[in-house]
Amino acid sequence: MSDFVNGFWNMYVMVLVALSLVYCLFVLMSNRTEKKVGGVQLHGNVWDENIQEWNNPLPGWWMGLFWLTVLFGIAYLAMYPGFGSFKGAFGWTSLGQYEDEMKKAAEKYDPIFNKFLTQDIKVVAADPEAKAMGERLFQTYCSQCHGSDAKGAKGFPNLTDSDWLYGGEPEQIETTIKGGRQGMMPPFAHLGADTIKDAANYVRSLSGMAADSTRAQRGKEVFMANCSPCHGQDAKGNTAIGAPNLSDSTWLYGSSEGTVTETITMGRQNRMPAFQEFLGDAKIHLLAAYIYGKSAGAAPKAETK
Ligand code: HEC
Ligand code: HEC
Repeated sequence: MSDFVNGFWNMYVMVLVALSLVYCLFVLMSNRTEKKVGGVQLHGNVWDENIQEWNNPLPGWWMGLFWLTVLFGIAYLAMYPGFGSFKGAFGWTSLGQYEDEMKKAAEKYDPIFNKFLTQDIKVVAADPEAKAMGERLFQTYCSQCHGSDAKGAKGFPNLTDSDWLYGGEPEQIETTIKGGRQGMMPPFAHLGADTIKDAANYVRSLSGMAADSTRAQRGKEVFMANCSPCHGQDAKGNTAIGAPNLSDSTWLYGSSEGTVTETITMGRQNRMPAFQEFLGDAKIHLLAAYIYGKSAGAAPKAETK
């Protein structure tokens, strides 16, 4: 009610509410009948020759209930918002109630979140309670893109393997979640279809897939000239810019000659949203630990260190 831009609608609502209350009472009172002393009052209507309608007063309990209902309405409007922009004696708002509940939840849960925030991600990753919390957070905020098993899909990286666009060390994962990432592979359509086919064959040969060896030979030169600045001379990628390793068997978009050709021709743009503001440090810490614990690289690496 408080968001009316001018006073007219506020007055309109108040008048309507008041009028409807007054009207209810008017109908109630004007139809009231006194009990006739020593006899029966008749309406005067006759059916089937001798059936007549009595005009008895309404039962007391019914009248009482009606009065109570009206009084309840007035008392309610006095205490809670409803009468135009009048806020009610209690000053209750749904926003206020929401904030109260959030405050109570924060008092209850913040200590648990903060306990983990002070611990090293590798320690948190091994804690069963933290893992359960991380799992719930992941299902709520991340699964729609990365899948409920975190194994990803085309264009959405698998977070459970040991292959990383931006690095799988705990700090790198945390940085990814906080700030988001923007993968940018530029289009190379200007090289021409034939040269792109050469490059695609070279890329496929790197991971041991079937490739035309003459094309792959020519494609290597194309690669060194155009692609190595980002993907590296050895094509093992660069986690600083999220350039994928092209020499392994993990593919973000697909390894068929058609898909690789499409990637090179059209380029690829990809975005992982930033969660720092939305989730805050404590939840991101738990999520980073959850993902670190889930990734294939975690266990052996942590032990050898
Ligand atoms: C809107 C879809 C979307 C949501 C939601 C999302 N992600 Fe991502 N995420 C992506 C995409 C797309 C990439 C790959 C970015 C790229 O290719 O540059 C990515 C990349 C990542 C990476 C880096 C993987 C690597 O190989 O380096 C991590 C870690 C990650 N996401 C974790 C999360 C977590 C944790 C959440 C939940 C808080 C989350 N993501 C929510 C789309 C999403
Ligand atoms: C400016 C840096 C840059 C250059 C130059 C570049 N790439 Fe990329 N490339 C990327 C990035 C970043 C990605 C990941 C895009 C994403 O996150 O969606 C990528 C993705 C790819 C993929 C997809 C891999 C997969 O797993 O599906 C292929 C294939 C590829 N590049 C091949 C090439 C080839 C061939 C060239 C040279 C003709 C090249 N790139 C040049 C940055 C680059």
